[in-house]
Amino acid sequence: MLTATGFAPGRINLIGEHTDYNDGLVMPIALRLGVTVAATSRDDTSVRLTTDAAVSPRDVAYVLGAEERDGTWVDRARGVTAMLAREGAAIRGFDAEITSDLPVGAGLGSSAAFAIALLRSLSKLFDLALDDPASARLAHAAETEFAGARAGMLDQLASVYGRAKDALLIDMRDHATQVIPLPSTIELAVIDSGTRHEHATGGYNRRRAECEDACLHLGIASLRDIDGSPLDELLERLPAPLDRRVRHVVTENGRVRRAVDAVRARDDVELGQLLNASHRSLRDDYEVSTPELDELTGLAIGAGALGARMVGGGFGGSIIALTRRGRGHDLAAEALARYRDRGRLVAVVP
Ligand code: GLA
Repeated sequence: MLTATGFAPGRINLIGEHTDYNDGLVMPIALRLGVTVAATSRDDTSVRLTTDAAVSPRDVAYVLGAEERDGTWVDRARGVTAMLAREGAAIRGFDAEITSDLPVGAGLGSSAAFAIALLRSLSKLFDLALDDPASARLAHAAETEFAGARAGMLDQLASVYGRAKDALLIDMRDHATQVIPLPSTIELAVIDSGTRHEHATGGYNRRRAECEDACLHLGIASLRDIDGSPLDELLERLPAPLDRRVRHVVTENGRVRRAVDAVRARDDVELGQLLNASHRSLRDDYEVSTPELDELTGLAIGAGALGARMVGGGFGGSIIALTRRGRGHDLAAEALARYRDRGRLVAVVP
């Protein structure tokens, strides 16, 4: 019996939220936290998974070729093996031990990290020679086509290419990627609000459908095609709430560009303002924030953050707070001391 191990990190996103499935711009940074999968081959077609993560079930088995969705985290594993089979990859059964120091459902890319870690371990175990682009594509297919969350590809690309000390500017139109080193003057506190909302996947899928609907109204293929057009005139042609959704996506792409300039110019104050503006847009126009995320970003700013915003898909999860280097732990402690729910500091980046 052979054993092979794969690791993949979670991510934050400096700015550029809900732009990925609109062919827009994103700026992820990899966390040092992630998911490790140690897979051991079997002689039959059974898959047995055990995990130390705070999820249910913790032990589960299924049979290759009989993958059926049940709405739990296991769908990511079933999706991965079903997508590998669809591509003709020769795998047998395996036992996998999953260990994770990345909180689940905290908006930090844990689903993608798990799928990529599993693909990396299976690639070694069965000599599949999957490279990073192939792993990202298969993990994304597992998420969207099998698990039914119509997510963009931010999390998968961030997990395979992300770096802990730099942001990556990724243009989702062609996946062109540039490394944007973070100034040594700043850090980001990643704070989990401790709240998860059950309707998150439904809400997310609805936002994506609204963007597609807006494209139909405007006769364009993707919201990225709006770049450079006078926005107000276009928005007038859209019924509510599609106008607000489009305004978020278009202005968010603009904020990503300005954030790249601010990082390069080491203008930390401007970067903080852009994070705040991103949060307001996600809250008011895209309507994916929650009272807890709003409260926590406000408390972080009250504690001296240069800027703060929700991160990831929203409907619960985490915030990032931008501060001067060395201040992250104190800032998080101060914000959390006043926070109504039970949140926690997950990481200080880089
Ligand atoms: C989730 C999705 C990503 C992306 C973000 C929002 O993390 O998985 O594809 O859409 O939300 O930016």
